[in-house]
Amino acid sequence: MSKGSTPDRADFVVVANRLPVDLERLDDGTERWKHSPGGLVTALEPFLRARRGAWVGWPGVADIEVEPFSDDGLQLHPVPLSAAEFAEYYEGFSNATLWPLYHDVVVPPVFDRSWWHAYQRVNQRFAEAAAKVSAEGATVWVQDYQLQLVPAMLRELRPDLRIGFFLHIPFPPVELFMQLPWRTEIVRGLLGADLVGFHRPGGAQNFLWLARRLAGFEPSRGQVGVRSRPGVVQVGDRTVRVGAFPISIASAELDRLARTKEIQQRVKALRAELGNPRKIMLGVDRLDYTKGIDVRLHAMHELLAEGQIKAEDVTMIQIATPSRERVEHYKQMREDIEREVGRINGEFGRVGHPAVHYLHTSVDRKDLVAFYCAADVMVVTPVRDGMNLVCKEYVACRYDLGGALVLSEFAGAAAELTSAFLVNPHNLDGVKDALLAALDIDEAEGRRRMRALRRQVLTHDVDRWARSFLEALGTPAAE
Ligand code: ADP
Ligand code: F6P
Repeated sequence: MSKGSTPDRADFVVVANRLPVDLERLDDGTERWKHSPGGLVTALEPFLRARRGAWVGWPGVADIEVEPFSDDGLQLHPVPLSAAEFAEYYEGFSNATLWPLYHDVVVPPVFDRSWWHAYQRVNQRFAEAAAKVSAEGATVWVQDYQLQLVPAMLRELRPDLRIGFFLHIPFPPVELFMQLPWRTEIVRGLLGADLVGFHRPGGAQNFLWLARRLAGFEPSRGQVGVRSRPGVVQVGDRTVRVGAFPISIASAELDRLARTKEIQQRVKALRAELGNPRKIMLGVDRLDYTKGIDVRLHAMHELLAEGQIKAEDVTMIQIATPSRERVEHYKQMREDIEREVGRINGEFGRVGHPAVHYLHTSVDRKDLVAFYCAADVMVVTPVRDGMNLVCKEYVACRYDLGGALVLSEFAGAAAELTSAFLVNPHNLDGVKDALLAALDIDEAEGRRRMRALRRQVLTHDVDRWARSFLEALGTPAAE
């Protein structure tokens, strides 16, 4: 990473909880920057780099002050968080209140007033940082559930800006959103934007209903389309648009990487290290309770116990990036998953040949692509997911038309990837049937499905997502 000083103010600014790089403190006291986890950074970083914009975000470590710096043409503006704010704003309100509430209350959300106050304070700080780095009339694109108050706070400070907001996670059914004690403040915070974007039309529709119910505005009544027919809310003399923009990945780039000799050699080596099993199943996720890692492990366990698959034939690899490790439900889920992996291996593994290979780590891009290319069945079983980029990455890598995708109906991507084996993750028998069907798929049928999936992913890439959002915001995406 080449670092330099930053120019003062930018015409295009992204504001997100995290910078695209996290500062890491090593045991020997040294520090280094590493790629930040999650789909938001995967999606936005390539786009913003090409545009040479500015990115306002937290550097990933509490209680440090980092000066603004530039990284290969991208201006990075760190926003500090104290250890108490990290606990209350990030782990608390963002990830123990909003995250479960917006993911169908899979675990009970915690409503804590001091967390809410920290969320307000930190949102104000992000708004002030964005106001400072934005040039006159700039476009500011605010990201995700951690910063839902920023649009209104920023508008207050800088009415000259064009402000967009995109939610990377699902927007919940109105009955669930109404549980939030601070529901009106959140809706009003989002209405500070000129354009509020969701992955799916359903999320946009829910938000329009809440704008009327909680903020008293009269929204348009028509059905919101995908990248078309945005809803409209008149807020005083401002028109706020509300639309659906399904996010995606840099598909051509992954397709290109997957075709390289280097990756193909890694794939061969990987299969050999695993003892050349007949079939490899793969899971790749942040270690999060919404991802349904337990679902696929239970399904595998039952299939092995019933003799429907044999550990000599079928190997599962689960790669899980550590995530939000001090939040209670994450600790609990990690224990449950690791216990289940241990049980499966204890019952069905042999020396040197575990049934499940479990890696609690992040892997680098090339290794990830090699895993995707080696996997006969990609298993993506979230109980709720805004989009899920992993399944799109898998498809983009399968230029050989090999492999099969088992995908939860509860991932936003299911609406686009209809040629996958779609499953209800709450129906274990259905998941088992889909895994068996995907493992035994006939080659021609597999190629037919993969061709259809690839058509979708290669023509709807992250660039198209960003362009469609920015065009709806009234800011052309090209320089
Ligand atoms: P989320 O944003 O909830 O983490 P997504 O599926 O939308 O979920 O995006 C996850 C991103 O993180 C993808 O780009 C994926 O490749 C990456 N990722 C997930 N797990 C790992 C891992 N163990 N190692 C490397 N990258 C990972
Ligand atoms: O896409 C959801 C999301 O929460 C992003 O906002 C975030 O960058 C990513 O997942 C990773 O989560 P975290 O920043 O909490 O590690």
